[in-house]
Amino acid sequence: MTVPPLAPYPATRLRRLRQADWSRRLVRETEVRPADLIWSMVVHEGEGCVPVASMPGVERLSVKEAAKAAVRARDLGIPAIAIFPHIDPSRKDAAGSIAADPDGVIPRAVKAMKDAAPEVGIMCDVALDPFTDHGHDGVVEGGRILNDATIERLIEQGLMQAAAGADILAPSDMMDGRIGALRGALEADGFQDTMIMSYAAKYASAFYGPYRDAIGSAKLSAGQGDKKTYQMDPANTEEAIREVALDIAEGADMIMVKPGLPYLDILRRLVDEFRMPTYAFQVSGEYAMIKAAGANGWIDEERAILESLAAFKRAGAAGIITYFAPWAAEKLG
Ligand code: PBG
Repeated sequence: MTVPPLAPYPATRLRRLRQADWSRRLVRETEVRPADLIWSMVVHEGEGCVPVASMPGVERLSVKEAAKAAVRARDLGIPAIAIFPHIDPSRKDAAGSIAADPDGVIPRAVKAMKDAAPEVGIMCDVALDPFTDHGHDGVVEGGRILNDATIERLIEQGLMQAAAGADILAPSDMMDGRIGALRGALEADGFQDTMIMSYAAKYASAFYGPYRDAIGSAKLSAGQGDKKTYQMDPANTEEAIREVALDIAEGADMIMVKPGLPYLDILRRLVDEFRMPTYAFQVSGEYAMIKAAGANGWIDEERAILESLAAFKRAGAAGIITYFAPWAAEKLG
């Protein structure tokens, strides 16, 4: 694209269009609407709402409260909700045995939410970490995360979620080949309409910290103190292109970049390269930073939230997965 030559100052004054709210609105290039938001939500096995200490304003919701929240999402014009489970530590084991339990909190929440507000899309995380006592997303053997054995478990889990009525399955584990395997299993079992949003470019990030608190996932152990053997190195861009190309070839309907704000360059690059519906996950640490700085009066919290959401749209996101969704939809609706 070539930019036409500008007449020199003073004929060209870019500030002319910025002088009033009406003219700023008139030339605005992007806009965040409630329809751009996916509400990131934690559900728990108990009753009521339990605040998450490191994420002020976020609560773990019971199945009943999650159903009410689905109605609220519908009324606010939020198209979809992504749910994540908090599991009692006493029910976790090394294999994450209850990850595919059809009576678990996730399938119960999906059913209750779809009953209460069938118009709202429900997205489920496909991963083992909420259910394992070591906190990894996969099957661990001798300190190694086994790729193919993990995929078998993810397929059981994903099929169970689809059977419960989940609209979108979102594998967040970063095992190789899991999108193709899951797509194949869904087709074979008659779930051809179940969508897949791949956590395609997911980085081994420090910004997931508060999420561990929110879902009560274990501190990483088992000889591996981090997720660097499956999640991507924050230093890499070209590798993200290869990851996403594979996931699209394997059948992903939508792709995601995670975390969000520190990775806008990756988002832009992927949108330009693949022209797929591409989503940004504004993760727990991003939420916590804005809330903490806001609570201290160091930033204007409301403006910072809206500015961050606008930045995702400007960078090319089709939508944003965010814990701010209900607040933002109310503000923007
Ligand atoms: C794990 C998963 C994580 C998040 C979503 N799914 C954490 C991780 O990969 O360690 C992070 C969400 C957030 O930080 O808000 N499968």
